[in-house]
Amino acid sequence: MNEYLKHDEWCIIEEGFNPENQRSSESIFSLGNGHIGQRANFEEQYSGDTLQGNYIAGIYYPDKTKVGWWKNGYPEYFAKVLNAPNWIGINILVGKQELDLAKVKIKNFRRVLNMKEGYLERSFYAEFSNEQAIEVTAKRFLSITQNELGCIKYQIRCVNIDDTITIEPYIDADVINEDANYNEKFWEEVDIESRPGEAYLTAKTKKLDFYVCTSMKFSIEKNNTEIKNTVKENKRKKYLSQRVSVDCKTDDVITIYKYASITHSENHDKEQLTIAAHNNLESATEKGFNQLFTEHANAWKKKWTTSDIEIEGDVAGQQGIRFNIFQLNQTYTGDDERLNIGPKGFTGEKYGGSTYWDTEAYCLPFYLRTSEQQVAKNLLLYRYRHLPKAIENAGKLGFKDGAALYPMVTMNGEECHNEWEITFEEIHRNGAIAYAIYNYTRYTGDESYIEDYGLEVLIAISRFWAQRVNFSQEKKQYVILGVTGPNEYENNVNNNWYTNTIARWCLDYTLKMITKVQTEAPEKYKKLKEKIHFNELKEAGKWTNIVDNIYIPEDEDLNIFLQQDGFLDKEIIPAENLDPEQRPINQKWSWDRILRSCYIKQADVLQGLFFFEDHYDEDTIKRNFDFYEPLTVHESSLSPCVHTILAAKLGYKEQAYELYLRTARLDLDDYNNEVNQGLHITSMAGTYLSIVEGFGGMRIKNGELHFNPFLPPQWNKYSFIVKFRGKLIKVEVTNEKTIVYNQHNEKIKVIVHGLDYSINAHESLEIR
Ligand code: BGC
Repeated sequence: MNEYLKHDEWCIIEEGFNPENQRSSESIFSLGNGHIGQRANFEEQYSGDTLQGNYIAGIYYPDKTKVGWWKNGYPEYFAKVLNAPNWIGINILVGKQELDLAKVKIKNFRRVLNMKEGYLERSFYAEFSNEQAIEVTAKRFLSITQNELGCIKYQIRCVNIDDTITIEPYIDADVINEDANYNEKFWEEVDIESRPGEAYLTAKTKKLDFYVCTSMKFSIEKNNTEIKNTVKENKRKKYLSQRVSVDCKTDDVITIYKYASITHSENHDKEQLTIAAHNNLESATEKGFNQLFTEHANAWKKKWTTSDIEIEGDVAGQQGIRFNIFQLNQTYTGDDERLNIGPKGFTGEKYGGSTYWDTEAYCLPFYLRTSEQQVAKNLLLYRYRHLPKAIENAGKLGFKDGAALYPMVTMNGEECHNEWEITFEEIHRNGAIAYAIYNYTRYTGDESYIEDYGLEVLIAISRFWAQRVNFSQEKKQYVILGVTGPNEYENNVNNNWYTNTIARWCLDYTLKMITKVQTEAPEKYKKLKEKIHFNELKEAGKWTNIVDNIYIPEDEDLNIFLQQDGFLDKEIIPAENLDPEQRPINQKWSWDRILRSCYIKQADVLQGLFFFEDHYDEDTIKRNFDFYEPLTVHESSLSPCVHTILAAKLGYKEQAYELYLRTARLDLDDYNNEVNQGLHITSMAGTYLSIVEGFGGMRIKNGELHFNPFLPPQWNKYSFIVKFRGKLIKVEVTNEKTIVYNQHNEKIKVIVHGLDYSINAHESLEIR
């Protein structure tokens, strides 16, 4: 843990500069607008330890796989989100001395991430060796109204100066990924164009030829009057800067406005990139920083009206949940179905910026509840567009006839992860993709998705399960051998309960959806059947047989589901008995010891009970929770939220709150000692769900909205807003009552603590 940030309801605040926290702060104070994003690096030079990071959604590099022992079927590459050209840079020279926070004396350092309006601000006082001093305030944002635009206002107040200040804004494409497998740089220069105060650097990526134009336009004011001093250009390969020198005296104020536009060949013709960037910069400078910022801040305020959670009586908790919501909204805006959500978003290189099952299992419900329906639909369409590759991927592993195995990790639909126990064995991801279709449909009521896209995916996934099971002559049942479940601390196990359960559910759900589409949209069904050569009699017949006869491991004595065959052979010792010095076990123990232990990395059986809670009675959920929770070490950030929701359902209120605390400030207080690598973006959606589904008890059942709220004793009150089928509904919970506000212009029906209520348009209802 590292608790150095101040508590505040709307801002993340760091006071005082400690270089040891720099990498962590660079992650925490990251900015993004769904299309471009960056770590909170400094504008001016910084020679201390830093991880430079600018990222562009969808622009990646297929870095040649590096493994010790090659296995057939491994992908050729591991996709990396590229560290993109740096556009924030502004070198500052005071006299001959460089402003570098690792070298000058700093006072009053303050860094603020304002989540309400979506900007980063930094201020400090810097004193140079000759006692000259300046005060700097730097504000920047990545526009969410114009997603190719970033803006900086960098202001220097001369405290004690009689000298020249040199300002050197630059663009630098000579950047490297820290995680490059062969220490190789991934960018090649294509073109540089410039004129005073303006520059356009086009670079392309190696191998995949993504073209990106990074451009800047700047102006400089001295005491509020624009100055037009001579610009001295410095060009080298993949780099361009322009120097302007200004004579300064004490109390002078120099203001630099730097606008950057990032245009790329995924969105523009590659010949038009400079023109598009130029147009963006022209319109940006016409509007000016203040107007651009007002538009951006207003758009953020609007986002908050459909996604905020308010907590009264716990500032740290309030800050934590808003940070999670803010980061999710910065990472994915859902206006482009080619994009997705990497576990680290735009905040670091780990996980390569690629898509994992996290999106379907965790993130989708967040966007369903807080955004327009199309946002969640685009997440599903992303996988629909990747279906041919998923079929190809399954083909490489020996499956046939249209069976699809979605990749565990992907950028473009191809598998790009190369640990055999994950790549080949963590096949439960296919289940999450089917579950997301179900989740979307039951939430939105949009049945057309299944007819137009969903069923095709479901059939392909079911074809995979039907080939992946085998019939055990010994058990006289279908089994699934050699898998890794969600708990990655077990590999190559047989009959992982979660995997077998979700496989059975997928087959059953697909069969039901076939019947539905057959009846409700026969023409579409016929077309699909022909397109994918679906042999209903043969294939559906086999699926029914598997549904009826798949082995689901259970232990009769303990009356629980068995995580996998043989789980009870392990020595079962609750995790609380572990020496705290030995935790996290993934950093302290050998892999072999972890595999043999009973410790569970993340929700596994409990993940299944969370997905399918309606299939089990409360006693069953309780028995399994009571058995598996004490063995779970929650060493994946995705884990505690699922346990929170189940604990809340079971009435374990204290435990639910304790588990929730692990997720809410995971990154802000650096629980896992790794925030320097980037934030845990996908698990942030789980944190949101911990409140809405955990404490708020929100569920959708038969198309109806249920709440079963309680107030954690540590809070005075909390409220959340959800969008459900186009209606905005706010739920406020105190100890005495729950108030449901219908913010829609039609009557709504809700079910609270099992009782039906209807609420007129724009009215509220108090339930005691
Ligand atoms: C978890 C996976 C997850 C991945 C990316 C791993 O630590 O075990 O379930 O998909 O992180 O978040």
